[in-house]
Amino acid sequence: QSPALLPHRGFKLIVGIHDPDDVDQIRDLEIRESDVFVVTYPKSGTIWMQQILLLLEAKGDVTAIGPPGKYSNAGLIPWIEVSGKRQAFIEAPSPRLRVTHLHHQLMPAALSERGKVIYVARNPKDVLVSYFHFHKVANMLETPKDFDDFFEKFLRGDVFGCSWFDHVKTWHSHKDDMDMLFITYEEMIQDLPSAVGRICVFLGKELTDEQLANVVKHSTFDNMKAMPPANYENVSGELLNHHQGRFMRKGTVGDWKNHFTVAQNERFDEVFDKEMKDFPLTLIWDI
Ligand code: PPS
Repeated sequence: QSPALLPHRGFKLIVGIHDPDDVDQIRDLEIRESDVFVVTYPKSGTIWMQQILLLLEAKGDVTAIGPPGKYSNAGLIPWIEVSGKRQAFIEAPSPRLRVTHLHHQLMPAALSERGKVIYVARNPKDVLVSYFHFHKVANMLETPKDFDDFFEKFLRGDVFGCSWFDHVKTWHSHKDDMDMLFITYEEMIQDLPSAVGRICVFLGKELTDEQLANVVKHSTFDNMKAMPPANYENVSGELLNHHQGRFMRKGTVGDWKNHFTVAQNERFDEVFDKEMKDFPLTLIWDI
């Protein structure tokens, strides 16, 4: 058990970032028809979806994401679970756009009646690798001893977000209880214009082809990598050690192949097959 994590109602909170009492009040929040929550297991494409939603709101106008140095994407589409964010959510004008890594049981119950959820899933092998590197950058998370040690922690669910398998299975099992778009990181990599089009339709927005093309253009990895708000550059070195690496790190499919040993891959597949055997969707990771 990492000293930075606090077990709480079947989830784990990050000490210093989340307050258990604040988190407990999320369940009873009132939800508006126009609320949109992006739900992800960590490192599955949260910042990417924040970028797309911000651009869709702004009809492709990238200057809406800024000015540099003042905001991060998460400043504009905040985390609902971070301590002190609840009151701002209650008072915010519509549409209220938020992101979360929370488990389903901690989220507003009213989401089954109103609001929209976009769930982004990513190949857990690539999630593991991305998360390993992020633990070196994020000072609020314990620096991994080495990759092998982190590999085991991830499989045990001994990380913020807990078990990837539980996160994806549970949220997907509620797909029909709410207005949810379930999309994968790999689908977005494979065909970003079509993913952006799906998101736009899901949100009931109407953009011209030119505006949609601008949304796509400003949400490619290369363009986002060059943008300070997508790299949390405004966030202090106390929280993120910017010298250890950029938030927009690699943005590819299959980086796990550069990290996993053959034995680790076999072990991961074994756990994956056991955990996901009843999952109703075939997830395509290799593109
Ligand atoms: S966090 O910390 O949970 O909010 O991280 P999250 O934003 O969910 O995930 C970060 C990873 O997503 C990659 N990313 C992208 N990939 C491709 N295209 C675009 N536009 C894009 N934006 C973010 C980011 O690089 C992290 O993955 P890795 O594999 O570490 O590069």
